[in-house]
Amino acid sequence: MRISIGSDHAGFEQKQQLVEYLKSLGHEVTDRGPDTDDRVDYPDYAIKVAMDVSFNRDDFGILVCGTGIGMSIFANKIVRVRAANVTIPEFAELARAHNDANVLCLSGRFIDIDTNKEIVDKFLATEFEGGRHAKRLAKLLPIERTGA
Ligand code: RB5
Repeated sequence: MRISIGSDHAGFEQKQQLVEYLKSLGHEVTDRGPDTDDRVDYPDYAIKVAMDVSFNRDDFGILVCGTGIGMSIFANKIVRVRAANVTIPEFAELARAHNDANVLCLSGRFIDIDTNKEIVDKFLATEFEGGRHAKRLAKLLPIERTGA
């Protein structure tokens, strides 16, 4: 799969480890930065990764900040992006199966790397179930068009 990934300083260390992990699994990884753990603003990276997914340059996005919350707030402002802030593997599965989430937002400060790898595994391995969930997600379309 093609995966775009980014972080801020709080998620940098785990982002680096996830880049290597994803590559070892054979995924094509676009690392949108940052390249160091210097202090940065998470919105700048959330938008870059969300744009990659929105314009289908990548299949999925992964964002890591302190909590994952700020990343998800910004990524969800980009059209066609459904970002989920996930802290347990079960929610990763449900975010894909029920919500067709295409951007995964992780906490680099409160969740350990092994759990985050498990979350990533579940997220990438789970298909959207469609059906009643697709009907619900279709209600996003008019909101995305009009902003109302
Ligand atoms: C940075 O200190 C922190 O606010 C950020 O990483 C993130 O947790 C925001 O949601």
